[in-house]
Amino acid sequence: MREMFDRIAGRYELLNTLMSAGLNRVWNRKVLNAADLRAGGRALDLACGTGTLTRDLATRVGPDGYVLGLDFSKEMIRAAKKRSVPNVEYRIGDATKLAGVEDNSFDAATIAYGARNIPDLDALFSEMTRAVGPRGKVVCLEIARPRGRFFATFYGLWFDRLVPWLGARVSGDKWAYSYLPQSVKEFVAPDELAEIMRRNGLQNVTWDKFSGGIITLHVGSKPG
Ligand SMILES: C[S@@+](CC[C@H](N)C(=O)[O-])C[C@H]1O[C@@H](n2cnc3c(N)ncnc32)[C@H](O)[C@@H]1O
Repeated sequence: MREMFDRIAGRYELLNTLMSAGLNRVWNRKVLNAADLRAGGRALDLACGTGTLTRDLATRVGPDGYVLGLDFSKEMIRAAKKRSVPNVEYRIGDATKLAGVEDNSFDAATIAYGARNIPDLDALFSEMTRAVGPRGKVVCLEIARPRGRFFATFYGLWFDRLVPWLGARVSGDKWAYSYLPQSVKEFVAPDELAEIMRRNGLQNVTWDKFSGGIITLHVGSKPG
């Protein structure tokens, strides 16, 4: 898995923009609003990849804030560092074992399109809960499969056909972009994900679907 992300790091952002038709930035804004960060705040962005969301978080907390972006792929972190901004730090590390991250040290912890790739979701959410302070937010953005017939048909063509084809041509990695729709199919249902968040210490867990049901956003708070 780590090697796969290392291989696609160079073309990752371009492909993300193409495959989401530019909507990835709109979806990032939903994360920013759910994270409820203020100027001067502290955010932890797990599975940060090349740092698209990390940079948006950094803009939100401003020059007095701090954002830590963490990913286990050294090539993703290398690509992120090329576009680094002053109030962001990047580290290589495992999202399920946050070495060097103190308890209660962030106002919000986010993960975008990362949870689907992490087998131990209990470890992930217990670490996210541990990292945020009382009333801190934990936010998870993911790709989902839509239910309605129109969107399901469109999504099937887009995601099961176009994405693997385009991904293979642009990144040169056929396997990675066939894995992507497969990993969405195999991911836990939204209600189950909400339950995993609750059993790892989060309260007021809610989730929402948007863009025709192809994206889910889960949010929970650490008790105050
Ligand atoms: C689809 S990318 C998402 C990148 C980024 N969050 C974004 O919004 O574009 C998934 C990322 O998860 C990372 N990843 C997967 N498992 C991980 C783990 N256990 N710990 C840290 N990063 C992980 C991969 O290296 C990859 O960069």
